[in-house]
Amino acid sequence: MKFTPVLLLIHVLFSLMFSSAYAEHVIKFDTPPAALEKWYKPGNKRQVWLHTMFRLRREMQAINEYAKENNKPAMKKWIKRLDKDYNKIADMVPEWEKDIKPRLLPELEMFVKKGDTLRVAKTLKMIKRTCNDCHESYQPVVTAIYRSPSYDDLKVKSLKGSPHSFKDNMNELSQSVNQILIALDDGHKSTALQARLNLKKQLHNLGDSCSNCHKKDAYPKERILGKATLKKLDSLETSIGKWRVKESKQLMGKLAVTVCARCHNTHRIISDLRNTFLPPK
Ligand code: HEC
Ligand code: HEC
Ligand code: HEC
Repeated sequence: MKFTPVLLLIHVLFSLMFSSAYAEHVIKFDTPPAALEKWYKPGNKRQVWLHTMFRLRREMQAINEYAKENNKPAMKKWIKRLDKDYNKIADMVPEWEKDIKPRLLPELEMFVKKGDTLRVAKTLKMIKRTCNDCHESYQPVVTAIYRSPSYDDLKVKSLKGSPHSFKDNMNELSQSVNQILIALDDGHKSTALQARLNLKKQLHNLGDSCSNCHKKDAYPKERILGKATLKKLDSLETSIGKWRVKESKQLMGKLAVTVCARCHNTHRIISDLRNTFLPPK
């Protein structure tokens, strides 16, 4: 027991030290070269850059594993592949030529031939360091920019029937949601009923946009805007009609979680991240 005040003091000291350290912690990422765009959809038919990376990881793993068994023919086979893919980095993005060390590959092969396991391990580590250095500066940004879809060019039908942007549709949705909640609070039944009808229409129109990305897969739309959601929207009409305020607010809460938040968790978080990282036009 008598240690408790000491522990407490240490705890306070540590939290003070670290909270000030965190306050000054700045995360920095570099903007990736524009050349990268060609190696991702829609600039390319495939995610070429990413698949080159997957191969590099497999090749490094194979060499590391065969190094433990000193299996020279197998190492030779995989070093040849690694050499090819590693050099593709600079072929694809010339700006990154200075960040790789292709001379390490023939060196690696030479050490394997000589059976110098110590230097083989050391060289593999040096190659791995070039992977890590680049990843630290660029990987999260590249993932956010090139592997997440854009909503900018999508059009959704507005309440009036004319096409408007995805963002405008979102702001309309938000307005209807709050209009219902305000009207419920202030006793305006007909306003609440009209806003519910608007919300239903807006969600229906939004539903037409899912196939832009999900194509013929009906499951994603069913999960968020399917039967369960329609049922909640119908219950909401009944519940507002009978002026059951508490029940109506609860239904609104459920809709916000199962429709808005559920979709935002997969789409909006990534979209916001992408827009933050996107270099200014
Ligand atoms: C497709 C699934 C999806 C559903 C369902 C959805 N949202 Fe969104 N929402 C998004 C995406 C994606 C963005 C980011 C759009 C962008 O930045 O272009 C967004 C952005 C927003 C924004 C910010 C708009 C702005 O001006 O930046 C609001 C507000 C919003 N949504 C409200 C709602 C409400 C309220 C609901 C439920 C009634 C809802 N959303 C349902 C995907 C969805
Ligand atoms: C000059 C930059 C650069 C170098 C060098 C580099 N990479 Fe990458 N790597 C990237 C970028 C950028 C990404 C992010 C790609 C994405 O998310 O689409 C990435 C992603 C990856 C991924 C994908 C991780 C995942 O699961 O999403 C793997 C695996 C990978 N790299 C392996 C390697 C290996 C192994 C090496 C070294 C032999 C290497 N990379 C060297 C830039 C580099
Ligand atoms: C701009 C492209 C885009 C649009 C538009 C879009 N999504 Fe998605 N959605 C994605 C991507 C990318 C993923 C993650 C990868 C995947 O599952 O396909 C995803 C994942 C999902 C998931 C989780 C994965 C799953 O299959 O269960 C659901 C649910 C979903 N979307 C529903 C919707 C609904 C509903 C709409 C229309 C209101 C919609 N999406 C519109 C791109 C989009």
